[in-house]
Amino acid sequence: MRNTSNMSTDIRAAVIERVKALNGDGSVDSMALANELGVDHGKLVDGSLKTLAAADRIAMEMVSQPRWNVSDEGKSYAEQGSPEYRVYQAVSAAAPDAATVSSLDESLGPASNRGRQQALKRKWIAFGANKTEIVLGPSASSGEVVDQVSNALKLLLENAGAPGDLPADILKQLKQRKLASSKPLKTYLLTAGARVDDDRVEATEMTKDMIVSGEWRNVAFKKYNFDADGKPPEGGYLHTLLKVREQFRLIFLEMGFEEMPTNNYVESSFWNFDTLFQPQQHPARDEHDTFFISDPARAGVMDEKYLERVRETHERGGFGSRGYRYEWCEEEARKNILRTHTTAVSSRMLYLLAQEKEFKPRKYFSIDRVFRNETLDATHLAEFHQIEGLVADRNLSLGHLKGIIHEFFKKMGMEKLRFKPTHNPYTTPSLEIHSYHEGLGKWVEVGNSGVFRPEMIRPMGIPEDVTVIAWGLSLERPTMIKYGISNIRDLFGHKVDLAAIQSNPICRLTF
Ligand code: PHE
Repeated sequence: MRNTSNMSTDIRAAVIERVKALNGDGSVDSMALANELGVDHGKLVDGSLKTLAAADRIAMEMVSQPRWNVSDEGKSYAEQGSPEYRVYQAVSAAAPDAATVSSLDESLGPASNRGRQQALKRKWIAFGANKTEIVLGPSASSGEVVDQVSNALKLLLENAGAPGDLPADILKQLKQRKLASSKPLKTYLLTAGARVDDDRVEATEMTKDMIVSGEWRNVAFKKYNFDADGKPPEGGYLHTLLKVREQFRLIFLEMGFEEMPTNNYVESSFWNFDTLFQPQQHPARDEHDTFFISDPARAGVMDEKYLERVRETHERGGFGSRGYRYEWCEEEARKNILRTHTTAVSSRMLYLLAQEKEFKPRKYFSIDRVFRNETLDATHLAEFHQIEGLVADRNLSLGHLKGIIHEFFKKMGMEKLRFKPTHNPYTTPSLEIHSYHEGLGKWVEVGNSGVFRPEMIRPMGIPEDVTVIAWGLSLERPTMIKYGISNIRDLFGHKVDLAAIQSNPICRLTF
């Protein structure tokens, strides 16, 4: 056993003896016990009593006893009498002559002013005929003058702050005049616990050795303290991007959108490009822009009929289109890649939607990671996150697209929007979204949008009268603006400062 615990072992033994000696009759007060044992009360409680109580060897019940701390001013009143009493004494000593304000000031100093007010209130003194004279008041002549304030303070000082049966109004007065303040004393009433006689060695946990040797029979296991505070977790902080993602998610959910399953980073070129009517010679499909997967390099099962419709549309068109008039190559479509945009997921979802028996309007969103074979710089990484929303319904117009985009961005506090024509292989018309940034004092591009082309959605089987509008933006851009980050490498990737992730505040987009 460690040396340091010898003393507390003795004390604990003494405590046990003391509560056992009660024989179930009454209790011992911890303060009285501390005095008996000659130890500090706080140390007795924390070092011994709580441990014994945890092992059920004693029971402790907290009691709070009133105690009052007398202030320095209070101490001086206890010694010299209260100012009001000293004023009364001076006036009474001058009788039958009247005292004056200046004579009191002279003999009592600063106590004169305060004492006069209190003594006047108590009617111990009164003003004489000409208002400069001070004479004894009506209470003084009826012989009721007792210096209760000073007496109460003396009593407190003599009884270590215990108020005994001092009346509540006197204590209230002491408190108001800042002569004493209440500071309850917390002690414990101690009695024998259920296991008072159980002096087995205490153990915190069962070990293999204890089981093998059978020693577990001879030890008392410590109870779990379910009230103990846990250690604050050192990990588990949400990455800044995830904080912002959650806010975007809430915006979409509030607008009635369903989240699309985006849990596949590896995608076939077919879903990423071909189904989106992106020609196979398109520069974005080059390995300078796209990461190709070497193993497995080729995507497997596909809906052959749909694949043929996609081929047909690329080669010869349909739905009012001439197509690209080149020979579409299935092998090219089967090349596995890291998806370059989440529109690949939107495409899969629209295809699934088209397979349903009866078309029902849908609103979908996704927020997840995409990959591009970029040259890295302060604003570009090879992987980033896209936010995408789409609405499929009958008779949607460009007005609906602009309207829903306005509503979406308004929820982030962006009210001033402009649309600029652009080109995407899979939308027509296509619109860039620009927003006036009050902080930067200029228009910034915040997203891309459009109406999905018939060449994309009709081969899937989406009904003729259904239009699909969609928009997309990066998660990084608004996050960098929101958190004042100028280099994307400080936000995402191996150079990120973990301390910043732990300390970045939660995100609130205004909505
Ligand atoms: N996929 C586009 C991009 O990667 C964004 C977009 C989504 C554009 C939906 C139009 C419609 O930038």
